[in-house]
Amino acid sequence: MTTTDRDVNDIDAMLGASRAALDEVVHAVDQHSEVLFTWDYERSRPALVKLYEKAKTSQWNATTDLPWDTQVDNEKMAAEFGGSNARFAVLQNLDGSPLAKWGQKEWARFAIEQQTWMLSQFLHGEQGALVCTGLITATVPWIDAKYYAATQVVDEARHVEVFARYIEEKMGGAYPINPNLGGLLDNIINDTRWDITYLGMQIMVEGLALAAFGMMHMVTSEPLLKQLLRYVMSDEARHVAFGVLSLREYYAGLSQEEILSRQEFAFEAALALRNRFFAPEVWERSGADPRAVIKFMTGTYNPGQDMFQAMLFSKIVPNCKKLGLLDAGDGWLRQKFTEIAVIQFEDWADTSEEYASLDAVARDRAGA
Ligand SMILES: [Fe+2]
Ligand SMILES: [Fe+2]
Repeated sequence: MTTTDRDVNDIDAMLGASRAALDEVVHAVDQHSEVLFTWDYERSRPALVKLYEKAKTSQWNATTDLPWDTQVDNEKMAAEFGGSNARFAVLQNLDGSPLAKWGQKEWARFAIEQQTWMLSQFLHGEQGALVCTGLITATVPWIDAKYYAATQVVDEARHVEVFARYIEEKMGGAYPINPNLGGLLDNIINDTRWDITYLGMQIMVEGLALAAFGMMHMVTSEPLLKQLLRYVMSDEARHVAFGVLSLREYYAGLSQEEILSRQEFAFEAALALRNRFFAPEVWERSGADPRAVIKFMTGTYNPGQDMFQAMLFSKIVPNCKKLGLLDAGDGWLRQKFTEIAVIQFEDWADTSEEYASLDAVARDRAGA
């Protein structure tokens, strides 16, 4: 099936049915991209030089800069987070819901599972970022981008470290990677084109992460998680800016046909990222039939779901616009993003303009 005739509400895709559950400890992916040396050491990209300097002064230490001795109340945290999920209201209120029999106890248990699942996917996505950015140091042809990517590798190691520790110490263990997220990471790494690593990771996966971290940071009052997310977001904003600043230059020189294939990749990634939030693993562990639940959620008028999706894409859409991807080729991607109801925040600031204002580490140090 090509991207253009794909059913965006394919339940099998939402369930991740095309991919076996990842229950192995080590997962291998073939990698086909070319490794590039450059003998041109001139610092010719001032925006990347500035970003690199910022990265060097905004490092933090996961071991000493976070209050790890905080006692975490999982039920309270899940209740705060669950309350923001208006997208589940249709399952609670409408006739014919497969969860009509669920009471407060079932929803409270689901909220805890959902929270653990969400942080677990953050963890696995962070490892994806660690691997992809290591790859970029090798495949990108520009010295300024190799320097910057090297700082991002350290950032991502720290992010994997903090989420792994939080889940292990405060939540009692992680969910496996969601098949839609895992499949997307494989596709990003498999691709031969160096810019696709950036587009898939820095623009799509990290753009969505930045918005999702922001939503969780806003609703949680748990002090350790709040500070952890604040510092991770401070780094993520630079990473997304790295993608925008690098690809903007590169995409300005591509043909219409080459741009169309990037638009298609971005849309496939968007579907995988959206689909993962249907979280079939959580429904299953909570004793519900994932297929029936997802079918009901998507087959019913659900403004809560549309708003949730639009918020998740509130960084991705303005950044795609800045890259020229939204409106190239008669607005192909604009139309697709409209179809999946994520176009809403297209005129919000793009991350290459707002990253400096999100630097929480520098702000804390200036106030100290
Ligand atoms: Fe990260
Ligand atoms: Fe990142």
